[in-house]
Order: sequence, then structure tokens, then C-alpha cells
Amino acid sequence: MKEDLKNYMSHEKDLIANLSNFSAILFQELENVDWIGFYLRKDGELVLGPFQGKPACTRIKKGKGVCGTAWEEGKSQRIEDVREVENHIFCDDDTLSELVIPLYKDGEFVGVLDLDSHTLARFTEDLKENLEDIVSVFMEKYWQ
Ligand code: SME
Repeated sequence: MKEDLKNYMSHEKDLIANLSNFSAILFQELENVDWIGFYLRKDGELVLGPFQGKPACTRIKKGKGVCGTAWEEGKSQRIEDVREVENHIFCDDDTLSELVIPLYKDGEFVGVLDLDSHTLARFTEDLKENLEDIVSVFMEKYWQ
């Protein structure tokens, strides 16, 4: 995946173009994932950014839902069964598991990467760590 990022992004400086291809690369590579996308920090809330999958909720406040919790706590949220999370925001009633990784640029929170699956416990600890690693490469080299 890091090779894909390099191929698609090393010559492109536009953030929306790169986030769009990043979500597409992840969607293409990961099986049993039904929604992958970005929420970007704008004017004190998270606003829907580039994604792959069904239309989704457009705005999320800090502390709300799994995405807003990742922002508030400053760490990834790996949810094996979203039905057990009171604070979960359902954009798609069929979603069963979710992974949210907060994005930081130069120490500042700038948004989240959100992945949803219709499969229970789709996101393992190993996958979480791999994705955090890929996200950190993206943030360092291609977020500009
Ligand atoms: N489930 C998320 C909302 C975003 S959608 O899943 C695309 C949440 O609880 O923050």
C-alpha cells in the first residue's frame, strides 16, 4: 500500500485529490469493508471529506460518535460491535464494526480516517496498527 501511495501521490500536491485516491486505494485493497473515508476538521466540527461507499452523515461534533470520540481522546477507536457503543452514530444500519484513526499534522488534530464494515469484529489489532502506520506515512509525506 505504501508503494501505491507513492505512485499516486508523489507528483500531486492537492489534498482532496490525494485523500480521494487514498480512500480508493484502501477500499480496493481491504476485503469486507463497506465504507472508507475522511472527516476533516472545519470550524470546530468534523465535515465529510473524500470517501468510498454509500452517502454518509456530513457533520460530527467533538465527543459525538466514534469519530468525535477519536478526536476527544486523541487515539484510534477499534469497535468490534458498534451495537454495544451507545455513542455510535449510525449512517448505515448494516454497519457492525468500525475503526477510526485520528489524523495529526505537526501535532495538530486535522480529521479522522473512518472505516466501517458489515462484518462483526472486522478490524483486528494488527490491521489497526498497519493502518496507523500507513496513515502516518500519508500524514508525513502527502498531507500538504
Ligand atoms: N459511525 C460514525 C459516523 C460516520 S459513518 O460511520 C460514515 C461515528 O459513530 O462516528
